[in-house]
Amino acid sequence: MVAHRRWLVTGGLGFIGSAFVRLVLRERADVAVTVLDSMTYAGNPANVAEVAHDHRYSFVRGDIADAARVDAAIGEGVDAIVNFAAETHVDRSILEPEAFIRTDVLGTHVLLEAVRRHKISRYLQVSTDEVYGDVEHGASRETDPIRPRSPYAASKAGGDLQVLAYHTTFETPVLITRGSNTYGPYQYPEKLIPLFITNLVEGERVPVYGDGLQVRDWLHVDDHARGIAHVLEQGTPGEVYNLAGGNSRTNLEITKELIRLAGRSYDDSVRHVTDRPGHDRRYALDAAKAHALGWSPSVGFATGLAETVAWYHQREDWWRPIKSGDFREYYRRQYALR
Ligand code: DAU
Repeated sequence: MVAHRRWLVTGGLGFIGSAFVRLVLRERADVAVTVLDSMTYAGNPANVAEVAHDHRYSFVRGDIADAARVDAAIGEGVDAIVNFAAETHVDRSILEPEAFIRTDVLGTHVLLEAVRRHKISRYLQVSTDEVYGDVEHGASRETDPIRPRSPYAASKAGGDLQVLAYHTTFETPVLITRGSNTYGPYQYPEKLIPLFITNLVEGERVPVYGDGLQVRDWLHVDDHARGIAHVLEQGTPGEVYNLAGGNSRTNLEITKELIRLAGRSYDDSVRHVTDRPGHDRRYALDAAKAHALGWSPSVGFATGLAETVAWYHQREDWWRPIKSGDFREYYRRQYALR
C-alpha cells in the first residue's frame, strides 16, 4: 500500500519512541515515519534495525531545539508530530539539569512553533506521571494540579504547560499523554528494571535506594506505544490522557522478582544505598479517560517482566557495548558515593 500519511517521530531512536516506530510500521500500512533524533547517549539506531530498511522509514539526525533541523525533518510537510525526544533520567537531572531544560522545555517550544509555521494538523507530547509529583493516596487525574519535584519532572511539566498554552492561545492542535513507569526491550540500562536485570547477569549487586518501599506503576512499552498511537488518532485536541499500567509495585517487590528470575538469592544480590534526593514515594494514575477512548493495556505484568528478562538474556549484543562504554563513568559518578 502507498503511504498517504507521514508522521514525524522525534526521539524515535529512544526506548519508547523506537517501540512506537516499530509498531506504526508494523500495524499502519498507510503511514510513513520520519525519525528526528540527535543520538544522545540513549538514542540508538539498533533500536529500529528491524524496520530501518522499510521504504516508509527515513531518518534525520538533529536536535529538536534546532529549528533548522526540525524544518529539514518536516520537509514538504507532515500530518503529525509525536514528540518522544527528551532527557528522561531523574538521577541524571540531579547531576546535570541543564540538558533537561534545553531539550524538554526549549525543544518543545521549537516544535510547537514548527507546528504553527507548517500548519501541522496534530502534535502529541509524550509526557509522564512524574509531573503530578508525589501521590500519597489515590490516583492522579488529568485535571489535577501538577507539582513536579525533580529537575527532570519540572522540565517535563514546563513542556506540558507550553503545549497547553499554545492550544489556548493559538488553537494549536495538541494532545498530551502522561504515561506511568515503562519497561520492556531496548530500555537503556540506567533505569531500574534493565539496570537490575543486567547487573544480575554480570554477577553484580543491585543498588536499592533507601528502604525500597517506593511505589511505581508499570506499563509495558508496547502497550504504551499503542496508547500513544490511539490518542494521536482518536484523542480530542487540547486534552491530556493518562496512560497507566495498572501494576503498582514497591521497588523491593520488583527487585525480589528479578532476583528470583535470575536464580539468585536476596542476600547475595542487594546493596541498600543512600536514597535519591527528593525521591518521590509513590506515583499512581487514573486512566479512566484513556479507557473511555478505547485504550487499555494488554500485557500481563508477570509475563511482560519474564519476557523482558529473557530479552536481555538473549540480547547481550545490545546492552554489553552500552554498559562497557561511557556508562561506566556515569555508574561510578552515580553510585560510588552512595
Ligand atoms: O514514572 C514515569 C517515569 O519513570 C518516566 O517519566 C522517567 O523518564 C523514567 O525514568 C521513570 O522514572 P523513575 O525515577 O520512576 O524511574 P527509575 O527507573 O530511575 O527508578 C524507578 C524506581 O527505582 C525509583 O523509585 C528509584 C528506584 N531505583 C532506581 C535506580 C536506577 C533504585 O532503587 N535503584 C536504582 O539504581
